[in-house]
Parts: sequence; structure tokens; C-alpha cells
Amino acid sequence: NHYKLWLNYYPIENTIIKNSIVKHFNNIQVLNNDATIDIIKKELNIASAGFINRDVKFNTPNSETGLLIGTLDKLPNNIAQRLDGEFKSHEGFAIFQHNNTIVITALSTVGLLYGTYNLLENIGANYPLTGVKNFSEPLIQHRILNHWDNLNGTVERGYSGASIFNWHTLPDYIDQRYIDYARANASIGINGTVLTNVNSNATILTGTYLQKVKALANVFRPFGIKVYLSARFSAPIELGKLKTADPLNADVQQWWANKINEIYDSIPDFGGFVVKANSEGQPGPQDYNRTHADGANMLAKILLPKKGIVMWRAFVYSHEQNEDRHKQAYNEFTKLDGQFLPNVMVQVKNGAIDFMPREPFHPLFGAMPKTPLMLELQITQEYLGQATTLAYLAPMYKEVLDSDTYAEGKGSTIGKLLHNQKLNGIAGVANIGADINWTGHLFGQSNWFAFGKQSWNYNASPKEIADTWLKLTFKASDNFYQDISKIMLNSREAVVKYSNPLGLHHLMGTGHHYGPEPWANYLPREDWNPTYYHKADSFDIGFNRTKTGSNALSQYKPEVQQQWQNEDSIDLKYLLWFHHVNWNKKLNTGRTLWNELCYQYQSGCDDVKNMITTWQKYKNELDMPTFNHVNMLLNIQYKEAVWWRNSSTLYFQTFSKLPFPQFLEKSD
Ligand code: GCU
Repeated sequence: NHYKLWLNYYPIENTIIKNSIVKHFNNIQVLNNDATIDIIKKELNIASAGFINRDVKFNTPNSETGLLIGTLDKLPNNIAQRLDGEFKSHEGFAIFQHNNTIVITALSTVGLLYGTYNLLENIGANYPLTGVKNFSEPLIQHRILNHWDNLNGTVERGYSGASIFNWHTLPDYIDQRYIDYARANASIGINGTVLTNVNSNATILTGTYLQKVKALANVFRPFGIKVYLSARFSAPIELGKLKTADPLNADVQQWWANKINEIYDSIPDFGGFVVKANSEGQPGPQDYNRTHADGANMLAKILLPKKGIVMWRAFVYSHEQNEDRHKQAYNEFTKLDGQFLPNVMVQVKNGAIDFMPREPFHPLFGAMPKTPLMLELQITQEYLGQATTLAYLAPMYKEVLDSDTYAEGKGSTIGKLLHNQKLNGIAGVANIGADINWTGHLFGQSNWFAFGKQSWNYNASPKEIADTWLKLTFKASDNFYQDISKIMLNSREAVVKYSNPLGLHHLMGTGHHYGPEPWANYLPREDWNPTYYHKADSFDIGFNRTKTGSNALSQYKPEVQQQWQNEDSIDLKYLLWFHHVNWNKKLNTGRTLWNELCYQYQSGCDDVKNMITTWQKYKNELDMPTFNHVNMLLNIQYKEAVWWRNSSTLYFQTFSKLPFPQFLEKSD
């Protein structure tokens, strides 16, 4: 049923590898002792039972050590000297061989835990142990899941069942799921979790609920995972019965100081707050004519001595402003650059609109050099077919992280800019729920996995991540791994093609965001209507964001503007994001815009069909429930793709008045 995620520890069949594991697991020396070490030992036991069907043995007298696990200060000198490289982070780890012993070392026991998971992952993916060598440190400090979970068990934009957090039975009942959740996160380097929705009410900050949060924090702590909460800005009114939540008001400041003290009394390593303020109707400092910096700093000042942080979201836009939504966050925040306290990160979505299948990078990246930014990615597939769609997101994350902002000259990629900040982080909106396989679609697990890997190392290759995940998830043939890896790597592009080709965006059903509704124009807010984004008329289609249009393009550095300002030379993937283009324009593909659009929709459908054919090749290799699960979902996805293609092309044809190209006429 895939409840175990990537921690299956399938039996090792290769006898050479198996024998070597037996040898190493036969005498494990562990030099430290704390709650994290207990977890390491338990995990080694679980893994050993799975891999070789034996118990591990610790500290076997007079026998050769097979695996030595200890922080650097505890290692014998002659072994410690073997370490090449110096740890910069307490979370980094090194694995190397010393004589016949494999050594895992780090500065902290959490580093040892990461090292242990890394070793087990390599075994699970069938990499030989001999000569093992790995020195790994996170390039990003805060690798945080954002749960959009509500206290009543619902999950905003969650498609895999109810929230895994059962606030009714907490704090006394500790569900095994909490432990398994922590194991899964720790195994991929995730070190923080925001338990509550950005659109939360203030209830989570009441004493009763804080006790429940404390219980979860106690479970997560030895796994190296800190707990964070969303802070509703008006909590002093709702809970404190004050008349205002003005951040400059002394009573308000005192209320938050007391509340934060109360939290730290229960959770001494509490991570801090994420805040959605003055965004989509949420309260915030602007209600009192204060700035986002005033609001963030009020909380940050209290959190600073406690080492807590504030993740202040930049997802702000307002329909009252007669301004392209794309430009609003930039306009709002760049003027505040340098005004935030050092423990504030401004949390910015990867693109300026909202987690579309493809967006150019958010112009705020590189535009606030004096303010640490935090990247917010979405793991849950709100706009990518939700849980009935196979869309492997690592290539999308990589595209974002590799985007060159040119902020400090060529090569100023988002990944590098984040890394160079003194304080940095990446947030991922979780796709986790109480479904038996956690993520609804089995392949949703790969996105959780990839998020962890890529927020640890933004250079990690999507292909390698997919290959590893496949081996840890399915027991199957090499052909299966190769074919399915190809499917995964192409899958997000397929979604782009059949739903939002050539830079079109925000064409999904309004409200629920599932399926096509490019014709919708009935919502009270213009900027929630798809017609606002595609702007199709009888001559052209697309959003002109150049000088002659909204000029959102001017928010990017000149080198980036140059790449995108000309409709003849812009990468076609962003064409209609920035340009309003004539239906008959000849593109560099040799097709007219209209024909190219039809071609993209068709090609996306063809891709899904190929995914089905490939998957079906492996019917006999997989257990039936797993085969059927993915097979049925792929068939649903094909229907969705065809639905997107048919409705979109028919709708856009009412503007273009052009005939369908032959390949579309012939399609099913
Ligand atoms: C999207 C999403 C909302 C969410 C918002 C946010 O608009 O549809 O459900 O609240 O993003 O990120 O705050």
C-alpha cells in the first residue's frame, strides 16, 4: 500500500551487496547517546530487518567493527583525521571507509541521523558499500514544509484525505503517523514544519492548542525537526480582546510578547511564525496604515532573543489597484528593502502569479539585496491536476532554482542568491494527507521526496532523484526504472502543454482550480478570472507585459528583459506570458501561433497516452493494487488532458476563427 514511502528497505537480492551489509551490520559501534541516537538505532534495526532479514548487533565484544557512528569529537584521532573537508554546518555529515569499517560522522547527532539515512538510501538504491564516500552539507538552512491544514481536519488545496494532525486526540494520543512522518522528513533533510494553514484563525495560539503543538514538537525534536505556526495578525483582538492589532501599539506588542513567552515555555526550540498578512482578505499591519516591515518586525523583535524567525509572505495583490497582479508584490516589498530585522525572511512564491504549471521566476528574487528572501514552492498540485495527475515536480523546482536573475551579474541564480544570504530557507506547501499512501497519487510521494532533496542541495539532479526514488519505491526491473524515470522527467512538461501552453496561465476552473475554464469571466474580482490572463480577441492572444503593456518586464534586470522583451526571440515557453501575439504570427517552430497552440495541446495529450502505454508494459512486474492505482489515475489524466485540449482549442477558436490543423481533426 506504499504507506512506508521511500523507507521500504526491500530485501537485497545481490549476494555480494547482501554479504557486505551483513558484515557491516553485525557490529555497529555508536559513540554518542541521546534521543536522536535512539532513533538511529531503531532505524538501523528496521532497515536491517528489511534488507537482510536480521537484527543489527551493537557493540559486539571482540568483533571487528562494521559500522562506526559518532560525532567528530568522539571519533578516535586516527579516524577523525581521515575526514577530508571541514564541516560548516551542524547538519552536514560524512561517510567514508576506514579499513573495513564504514564511518558516519558529523558535528551533531542530527547530522549522524542524516548520514545514517543517506547510507540506508544508498543501500536501498543498490549502490555498493565498498569504497563509500560522501561529504554532504545542506546549502539551505531552513527546509520547511508548510501545511495548509485546518484545525477541523480539512486541508486547503489538499487532495490526499484529511489532515494527518488530529487536534482532537492530541496531546495525549500520539499517532504512529506522527513518528513515521518525522522519519520520512528527516530521511530527506526536512528540518521544519509549519503545522497550520496560512489562512488560519487564531485558535492554534490558545493555551489548549499550544499543549497539542508541544506534544508534536516533542515527537519531532529528536528527528531534527522544528515546529512553526502560522500567526494570525489579528490574534490580539480575537484572543486578547484588545481593540486593535496595530503593530506599533504597546498593548499589542505586550500581548505578543506574553504569547511568545508562553510558547517558548512549552517549546524551547520553537521555530517561529509564518504570516500571511493583508493578502486575500487576511488581516495585517496595513489595516492600521503600517507597513509589512512594521508588522514583521514587531514579531521578529520578540522572537530574536529566542532564536525564532518570521517568514513574512509576499503573496499580496489587490484588485482595487488598477495594476497588473504580476507587479504588485514587487511594488509593495522592494520599497521596504533594508527595513526588516535580521530574523525576518520575506517568503516569495516561485512566480509572481500563483504556482502555475510554469511561471517565469518572481521579480522579487534579486530585487531586495538587503533582505533575506525565502523561496516558497508548492508540492501539492493545486494547479497541476491535483491528485489525479502524474506530474513530477523536480524539473520545475530546478528550473526555478536555476533561473538567472542577473542580480549580481551572470550566474546569479535563485539557488545561489538564497545560499549566499546569511539567513535562508525554502518552503514547500505540503501534499501530505491521511490517505493510506500519504499523497493520494503514489507519484505525489516523489514530489515530497524531491522537495527535501532539492532544498538540501539545489544542484541535485531531477533525474538522479527520480531514479533513486523509483528504486526505493518499487521493486522492479532496470527497464522499469529507466522507462518510468523518463515518464517522470517529462510529466510536468506534458501538463504545461495540455493545460497552459506557450506561457498561457491561470486558465483553470475558478475556485477549485481543477480542469479548464478559460472562458470564465464572472467572478467579482477581475484578477481571479481566466479571461484577465489570456486576453484573447479576434486578432491576438496573451498578456502584454512589455513597455507597451503593463511593463511588468521592467521589474527584471536588463539582461532578463532583453531575453523576454521581443516576441520574436523570447523562449516560446514564456511567449504569451509577456506578449499579446497575433494568431497568424509565424513562430520559429515553423507553425503559426494558432497552429502551434493546437500542436502543444495535442502533444501534451500524446505524452499522457505514451505514459499509459509505458506503464502498461509493466503490468506483470508490479503488484495488482499498485499497477491498478497508477493505471486508473493515468487514464483519468488522459481524459483530463483531452478535456483541456478540446475545450481550450474550441474556446480559443471562437476568437481566432481559424481552422484546426489536421492532426487535431484526426485526434480522438
Ligand atoms: C492560492 C491558493 C489559496 C492560498 C493562497 C496562498 O491562491 O489558491 O488557497 O490561500 O494561494 O498562498 O495564500
